[in-house]
Amino acid sequence: MGEDNVLVMEHISKAFPGVQALNDVHLTVRRGTVHALMGENGAGKSTLMKVLIGMYIPEEGDITFLGKKVKIENTQQALRMGISMIHQELSPEPYMTVAENIFLGREPLGRFGMIDKKKMVADTRMLLERLEINIDPNTVMRNLSVANTQMVEIAKAISYDSSLIIMDEPTSAITEREVAHLFRIIRTLKEKGVAIIYITHKMDEVFQIADDITVFRDGRHIATVPATQTDRNSLIAMMVGRELTNLFPKEDASIGEVVLAVRNLTRHGIVHDVSFDLRRGEILGVAGLMGAGRTEVIEGIFGIRPIDAGEIFIRGQRVTIKSPRDAIRQGMALLTEDRKLTGIMGVLSVRDNMMIASLRNYTKAGFLNKRVINETCAREKTRLELKTPSMDQVIRLLSGGNQQKVLVSRWLLTVPDILILDEPTRGIDVGAKSEIHRLMSKLAQEGKAIIMISSELPEILGMSDRVLVIHDGRVGGVFDRQDATQENIMRAATGHGELAAV
Ligand SMILES: Nc1ncnc2c1ncn2[C@@H]1O[C@H](COP(=O)(O)OP(=O)(O)OP(=O)(O)O)[C@@H](O)[C@H]1O
Ligand SMILES: [Mg+2]
Repeated sequence: MGEDNVLVMEHISKAFPGVQALNDVHLTVRRGTVHALMGENGAGKSTLMKVLIGMYIPEEGDITFLGKKVKIENTQQALRMGISMIHQELSPEPYMTVAENIFLGREPLGRFGMIDKKKMVADTRMLLERLEINIDPNTVMRNLSVANTQMVEIAKAISYDSSLIIMDEPTSAITEREVAHLFRIIRTLKEKGVAIIYITHKMDEVFQIADDITVFRDGRHIATVPATQTDRNSLIAMMVGRELTNLFPKEDASIGEVVLAVRNLTRHGIVHDVSFDLRRGEILGVAGLMGAGRTEVIEGIFGIRPIDAGEIFIRGQRVTIKSPRDAIRQGMALLTEDRKLTGIMGVLSVRDNMMIASLRNYTKAGFLNKRVINETCAREKTRLELKTPSMDQVIRLLSGGNQQKVLVSRWLLTVPDILILDEPTRGIDVGAKSEIHRLMSKLAQEGKAIIMISSELPEILGMSDRVLVIHDGRVGGVFDRQDATQENIMRAATGHGELAAV
């Protein structure tokens, strides 16, 4: 191997009960480069990275790091060698402060062996300042937004001064502004000779930041190519194993009467006077920057948090929604943005997680109709190309994207009138993503009304009949499909738009 390789992994195989997660794969990462690792949900990306940091021990394979053959048996050892990782599933200690979380397990000690809190906070402040991340080190983790939690995780991984940093879908919870910020940080790291393994499903990001790209499919290495020598379509073909032409299969649906009308929705200090209509057959995209208040608007409508003022009308009737239960009774369903906190029931099976919201549709004289349930599960599995050894598998053991597919299924199965999807395709691979888009289109054609929050502009532009832009807790603009351009949306999202009529 050349001197300029930081990492060489060879012949790595790792099996779990019922799944060959990695099958004789290899990966070579050059010093000071960004190496993108791509592939569909369940392809084995996270597993290979967990092998690299010693979380999983492979049945076979060799790892050469900084020119030396190594055996990596646990994450502490990996850290000491100079490998750190930002995990796909964030799991900060909710009651710790930002500083405590960053220095967990390596707190600076002062006199008498006591933790030197002052130094810890000062060091954290320096680290965050160096990275231009604007968060107070004393904030308690659970009070941070998902995006800021992600930024803290990024800072933490960088604080180890590693030679190799693994980023497993680091931008899944942040929007364009923070992505740009992260990319600046990555470029500085590269200049210092640090190598980055970057896992993402987002094509734009790959072509912006990656030097080399490796594609996995079903636990196998398919190809490694320089980013300059490939393009979007060939990457998709390598990942999916077939051509995929129509990325946003939005079909025309006839748009009917207003089913949901929101008037002057207000939560003091957070949401201000938000009004909009949602019609039958319509997909309303909700765009905005991180922290703009998109999720907060939805939380108000769905009864997750109390509102201070405003009215909600469903099919023309004024309704009071005090809890999600009220919302569901009114025919609404919500796929939340934070699947770990509010979605996935980790210890339950894939089947239970999928069926839990719609069980009453599968009961007959008080008995669960197991046959129909199993048929439904099987159909959903095929429809979303769900990768799981069985429906009895504990959901926590599925890959990140496959967990998300189960949640999407859960809410589709409730057959709601009004479906609210907060970042529905986050972490989902291209194939399944277009499948979910196709389902959304179909539901709209069947007369459902859909609200889709998304931080991916191409998704907003591709799927929405109208786009509602939230800026600073207010309506920054509303655009019809033909006026919804990237420029108009960005302008409204940054508070420079002209307020269109609602
Ligand atoms: N601890 C585990 N126990 C059992 N099966 C597992 C475990 N971890 C991963 N798997 C399985 O191994 C396969 C590869 O999963 P992995 O998490 O590496 O996929 P991935 O490429 O990271 O996918 P995604 O894009 O969805 O994150 C999947 O089929 C997954 O269900
Ligand atoms: Mg993964």
